[in-house]
Formats: sequence, C-alpha cells, structure tokens
Amino acid sequence: MSKKLWGGRFNGKNEEWIDAFGASIEVDQALVLQDIQGSLAHVAMQEVVGMLTNDEAEQIRQGLEKLLDKAKKGELEYTIQNEDIHLNIEALLHEEIGAVAGKLHTARSRNDQVATDMHLWVKEVNTSIIQEIEKMQQTFVKVASSHIETLLPGMTHLQHAQPISLAHHLLAYVHMFERDKERFTWSQHHADISPLGAAALAGTTFPIDRFFTAEKLGFKNVYANSLDAVSDRDFILELLSNAAILSLHMSRLCEELILWCSHEYQFITLSDTYSTGSSIMPQKKNPDMAELVRGKTGRIYGNLFGLLTTMKSLPLAYNKDLQEDKEGMIDSAETVLTCIKIVTGMIETMTINEEKMSASVEQDFSNATELADYLASIGIPFRKAHEIVGKLVLECIQTGKFLQDIPLCDYQTIVPEIKEDIYSILSAKSAVARRTSFGGTGFEQVEKQIHFWYDKLNIE
Ligand code: ARG
Repeated sequence: MSKKLWGGRFNGKNEEWIDAFGASIEVDQALVLQDIQGSLAHVAMQEVVGMLTNDEAEQIRQGLEKLLDKAKKGELEYTIQNEDIHLNIEALLHEEIGAVAGKLHTARSRNDQVATDMHLWVKEVNTSIIQEIEKMQQTFVKVASSHIETLLPGMTHLQHAQPISLAHHLLAYVHMFERDKERFTWSQHHADISPLGAAALAGTTFPIDRFFTAEKLGFKNVYANSLDAVSDRDFILELLSNAAILSLHMSRLCEELILWCSHEYQFITLSDTYSTGSSIMPQKKNPDMAELVRGKTGRIYGNLFGLLTTMKSLPLAYNKDLQEDKEGMIDSAETVLTCIKIVTGMIETMTINEEKMSASVEQDFSNATELADYLASIGIPFRKAHEIVGKLVLECIQTGKFLQDIPLCDYQTIVPEIKEDIYSILSAKSAVARRTSFGGTGFEQVEKQIHFWYDKLNIE
C-alpha cells in the first residue's frame, strides 16, 4: 500500500474500504481546474515574496501547466489512495517534476485550498446560472409578446376568477426569474472573497501576500479572519438556497404546464421533444420533462437542507464534515442549469391553443366582477352590487345560463339604470382591456411591460 502524503506520523496499515469512505476524489475532481488555478496563484506569490527561487517556481509552474492541460483534456488519473483533488494533484505534480513539488504546499493547507477552489467554482457557476436565467426570460418575453390578446382565466383557488392576458401570466414568471437573477448576483458578493493564505486555520509564519493571490485569482476581497476563511460555507448555502427558490418558481410553472396540456384544459400542446409515450397506453403523450423539473425541486431542497444540517453544530474551524459540502453543491447547480434549459425549450416549442384558452373565459362567470363594478359605477354601493350579482349567478347556474345571456329587460327590472352597453362590458376582452391600473392585465399595461423587458433584457 502506497504511503499517504500526510503519512509521517502513522504506523498502522490502511484499510481500502475505510480509505474509500474518507476520500472525496469521486466528487471533488470536478474542482480540478480551480485547484490548479489556485496552486498557480500560490506559487506565483511564493516566488514574489522570496519563498521560492525563480528556478523552483518555474519548475512548479511548468508542472502545473502540464497538469492543467491534461486536466482540460480529461487525461488525469486519480486514485482513492490520494484521497481528494488536492493530494491527487500534488502527487501528480511530484510525478511530473520530482521533489521540488513538495515546496508548493509551504504556507498552505488543504483547508484554505478547498475553500479557495469552491469559491472559484461557485463564482463561475453563479455567473452561468444568471446567464441561463436571462436566456429563459428572453424566451418567455418573446412568447408573451405574441400573446398579449390571448385570454385565459386568471385563477384564485384554481377557480376561474377574472380573465387575463396570457402575456401577463407569462410575464409574472419573468419577474420571479428577475428576482432569482438578483439573488445569484447578490450572492456573488460572498463568493468573491479569497480564503487562500488562511492556511490550516491560524494563518502562517511565512511572509505570504494574500492580497497578491486574491488579485491573481480575480477575487474582490480577502477573508479578514483566518478561522472564518476556512470554515465559512455561507456562499454555498446561498447558492443552494437561491437554487431552491429558483426551482420552486420553475416547479410552479411546470405544474401549470402539466394542467394546461391535460385533456380537461387543452390550453397548450407540448412539443414531442419534451413529451413521452406510455408503454401500454398507445394514446398517451405525457409531460414527463415538466414533471421532472417539478420533481427535481425535491432534491434541490434536499441539498439545501443537507448542508444546513451538516453545518449546524460545527465547532470552528475545519472539520471533515465539511467534505460533505460538495456533492449537493455540484448537484444543485447542475440540476438547476439543466432545468432552466428544459423550461426554456418547453416554452419555446409549445403550441398555444389560443381558441381553447380564450373560449374558456367566454362560457364562465369570470365576468361577474365586471357586472358588480358596473353597478357600483352607476351608484349602487359595491356590497349591494356584489349581492345582486351573486344572486344572478346562482340563478344562471340553476337555469343553465351565463350573465351575458340575461336579456336587457330582465336586467332593467332589477336595476333600471342598466343600459345596452352592459353586454360589451361583460365580454372577457373588455374585462381585460379595462384593467388599466399600473401592473394590471390591461393590454396597454402588458404592452408597456413587454417593452420594458425587451429593453432590459436586450431582446432584438
Ligand atoms: N477533501 C477535503 C474536503 O473536501 C479537503 C480538506 C481536508 N482537510 C483536512 N484537514 N482533512 O473538505
């Protein structure tokens, strides 16, 4: 059995299955580029402050560059014996350049190293997520722009409430996603801090320059407390919680798509690409991808709760428990990135059955508020108007009619001031058009929103 890089004070022999339990290489090899990048910054600093001769630094640098190149091509081979990405890279470097590789770890610990890798990783992934959310928003806005006048029932309690514009409905999600983007952007503030040089926990006796490495790695700030630097995982918790809220938003949307493509609604038809069939029922076209996005929300929440729980009682500073931070981090980021692409594709390719949608607000009572508002506008106190309309709705239900089917003379026996114009007011289209208050579903308001988003999201 080969010797561990930290094996000096150990005599006992290793058990392979125990080594495997302690190893994180299966997971943290995803951080290889960040790990080498961190080492390159560290060696540059070691040279600048005189901890290494130029020659030594050059040898290490060249070795690391070679490894970086191989890593990018996927040619590095890792072993469980070397536990994690940091020790694997150090061992590989040793193979490349010999004993001088051992100088790279002066004034550094895996504790600040792993934290540095993860800060770099989270910074990058936050940026990718922000970009993907923006592409998704652009798709929503484009689809919305051709459906300003497509109507559908706005719901409360999943019951027809008032007719709305489909564009308005889609734009509600664009607003949610904008807040998601903001959350990821704000979280960059906490990811953008360099832990490198905190060493194991207490700093180092060597004349290191933490600001030099931070700048080289593109970090805006440097942790000002070495204990905090090696034990802080807030930036990961923020990524996980931002991912959880984002996936909640996508899950709500998917739930609606699933309802809308059901036989009962038939508001949309999802494209074949995002649907699957049944192995027994030949007629089936199932919205599997939408269901999966909804379903994945569970594990994204799970990753957040997993790390919150891992962290909750950890004494300062580093504890091996922290090794558990990576799997959920990577999983949430990758899952959420794929979900965004799936949602974008589904929205882009779905067929909107405009007639079905609009028809559903012609044969219902979602215009009841219009009638009540009309009565209020001709001087009847709203509470009284509400009661009158409620009774009319009940009567209609009993006689199989809708409010627009009641003859004018019947209306006038109840309230003589009701005029012919009531019928245009009862139409779904006018109900939407008349909602001109700021942020409402009125066509003009929706058009303004569309312009706002075209501008803000630089849509051509
Ligand atoms: N693989 C470890 C992790 O992911 C790296 C840090 C190990 N530090 C230590 N003192 N054992 O957390």
